Amino acid sequence: MKHSIYVCVLFAFWCLVQADKPADYYNLLNIPRDATVQEIRKAFKNLALKMHPDKNKEDPEAEQKFIKIAKAYDVLKDPTTRKQYDLYGDEEFKNQKNKYHSYTYYRDHFGIYDDDPLITTLSKNDYEINVLDQSQVWFVNFYSPRCHHCHEMAPMWRKLATELEGIVRIAAVNCEEDYALCYQLSIDAYPSLLYYEKDSHLYDGEKYRGPKTLEALKNYVLSKVNVHIEEIDPDKWNQLKNKEWVIFFCSTVHAKCPDKGTIKEVAASLEGLLPVGIIRNIRLCEDILKNDKWYSTYSVVFWQIIDGTSKSHLIEYGDSKQILNQILNILPHPPSLDENQFQDLRTKLRLGTEKPWLICFYLGTARELDLELKRLPSIIPTINIGLIHCGKSSALCSALHITRYPTWAVVKDGGAFEIHQGRDVLHEIAAFARDSTKSTNLHALSPSDFDHIKDAGTPWYIDWYAPWCPPCKKLTPELRRASQHFEPDTVQFGMIDCTLHNSFCSKQGINSYPSMILYNNSVTRRFSGPPNEAEIVAFIQDVIKPVVVNIDDDSFGQLANKPVDELWIVNYFAPWCRACHLMELEYRNFAKSVTEFKEIIVAKVNCETYWEICNNQHITGYPTVRLYPMGSKGLSSVAIYNGERKAPAFKQWALSFIPSKVETLDEHKFIRAVIDETNLPLLVDFYAPWCVFCVHFEPQFRTVAQHLDGKVKSGKIDCESNRLFCGNQGVTAYPTVRLYLAPDKYFTLDQQDTKSIINQVTELLGSRENAHDEL
Ligand SMILES: *[C@@H]1O[C@H](CO)[C@@H](O)[C@H](O)[C@H]1NC(C)=O
Repeated sequence: MKHSIYVCVLFAFWCLVQADKPADYYNLLNIPRDATVQEIRKAFKNLALKMHPDKNKEDPEAEQKFIKIAKAYDVLKDPTTRKQYDLYGDEEFKNQKNKYHSYTYYRDHFGIYDDDPLITTLSKNDYEINVLDQSQVWFVNFYSPRCHHCHEMAPMWRKLATELEGIVRIAAVNCEEDYALCYQLSIDAYPSLLYYEKDSHLYDGEKYRGPKTLEALKNYVLSKVNVHIEEIDPDKWNQLKNKEWVIFFCSTVHAKCPDKGTIKEVAASLEGLLPVGIIRNIRLCEDILKNDKWYSTYSVVFWQIIDGTSKSHLIEYGDSKQILNQILNILPHPPSLDENQFQDLRTKLRLGTEKPWLICFYLGTARELDLELKRLPSIIPTINIGLIHCGKSSALCSALHITRYPTWAVVKDGGAFEIHQGRDVLHEIAAFARDSTKSTNLHALSPSDFDHIKDAGTPWYIDWYAPWCPPCKKLTPELRRASQHFEPDTVQFGMIDCTLHNSFCSKQGINSYPSMILYNNSVTRRFSGPPNEAEIVAFIQDVIKPVVVNIDDDSFGQLANKPVDELWIVNYFAPWCRACHLMELEYRNFAKSVTEFKEIIVAKVNCETYWEICNNQHITGYPTVRLYPMGSKGLSSVAIYNGERKAPAFKQWALSFIPSKVETLDEHKFIRAVIDETNLPLLVDFYAPWCVFCVHFEPQFRTVAQHLDGKVKSGKIDCESNRLFCGNQGVTAYPTVRLYLAPDKYFTLDQQDTKSIINQVTELLGSRENAHDEL
């Protein structure tokens, strides 16, 4: 007892601390920090009706109070201002003037559909991402709360949403609040109804022009829905009877065969889960149901296969929803897990003795999730699916920071836990489960996890995000893919939800979402490129092993004392110099292109920071690129670059200073090399000095030769000086690259790029070895 009072006092203190902050907008509206726009609107409407000054005439402060919540609503409903508020508080909005509407406006006109669970209210911020979905059909009602017809139509629109649930997503746009969107889509009358097929474009919505009755609207949608219903005859049945089916018996004795619309609704709702067929042949009906003497009074059967044996379930006649519910009830439910089972499966995943799990954390009844839950196993067969009731396992749910219901999350191989941030729509959940279980190196983290990590000594790449922020959502799949490029002992990946851990994030200096930072003991590096897989991977690789060495006072010592077998190329630059910026990427690409050449070290000096180094070297202009060649120690000899500031030109220049692995051949040397088998296999570049492409190709060929050094010898032949010989060899184009395995056995290679040549050679050598083995 004492214990709980203590907690309660603590909690009250926390409440006080929170309430003491001036006007936290989330508290004012009494919503969680990760509330959806829908929830924000609903919360505001409720408050507006309670707190409106017209209703609170005796309270002299009513107007001030109301203005506060109206302002909170204004700021939070728009993702841009909401983000500003999350990051910087209300400074920005302090002096903003707020108007408000009359009480009747909030009562009658403020969003007709906000309280309808089956009708999604869309706004300009989320319209595209929803309606342009590849796997959903949408029917959208553009209305104005001031239009009388729109109000009249509302009950029917709700009924349509109920009847077509699972077949089409029913939505609404309030043109009073989102005028720009309605204008953009040329909505010229209220209500206007737009129908979007799966995977369509913004302007592909088809305007519905038929009568606005429930029957007509339903028929319209069903006429558009494209589902296959198999006509089953006795021959086909022989092939099909080993699969699960929902079968409609529609022979002449089946008076209760549902109408076409109902069959189509059932089929559309079950799409991807169970196929639907119709049997019209009386004999076949009798045959199939010979054990059920009531077969002629039933006309719907769920043909289930359990362990290879069929079982027929007679389904009571009803409308499509009733039929569907009976079928779903028969399908097995995913198992419910308790806290121990959860810990147990996580342990097994850590040990690698378990398939990954997709878990739905919920409150209330799981029934609302039936369709999603029961469809999932067919879509993601390699992932276990389970349920956790957060009322019963509240300690677990709070430890995992589950704050909204349902929340979908996965536990991956290795035990990493990740929460789904997208919408609770079947295909999104399935895609999340598939992608995220593959990214075993990406974890959802809490502040205490983060504190552990920082001292654990292994590098972590952390994404600080807010679940509602659109760029964050786009980033997540990229981050998942990026995480798959690295082993956990090189770098691990984490995500921290800054709406849950708001103050922690600001304490860590996070000032925008998403922020990605690489933590490696005391060293932190912030990612600042375009947030996609390739850039993230390149960023981390560059931190692990920079392609361009950043010279500071220490590493300059290394250069000043460089041994004779190293070649250094140094870019002396200044951060403010435009030509330096233009060159930066080329220089980096150059550095990447010479990684094969271990003797080459590419570096740069920031002359603003290390001005003494640059002064001592008498650098007078930026950028200055200098080369300290092999064969000389330290800075004793220098070459200065004055060519084109492009990667291939840098490379050609640099390579001209190091001995080549490519031997220069002529006819006689070639013949000797090929006949003397110790020089085989031999890779040969036939070129002409006047061929521009050959000149560009040369450094690439050197890279190949360098890479393959020890496996093959490499040479080049100038076909201008050895014209007759090249002609005799059948070389007709320059450059031509051949791999000689024997004097009379060669392969002409495709010379797209260094990688492809290396691959071809490796493959040819491999196949030769296998051939030897067979001998
Ligand atoms: C982390 O730091 C160590 C030691 O400085 C370094 O060897 C390693 O490459 C770094 N890893 C990453 C991912 O930054």
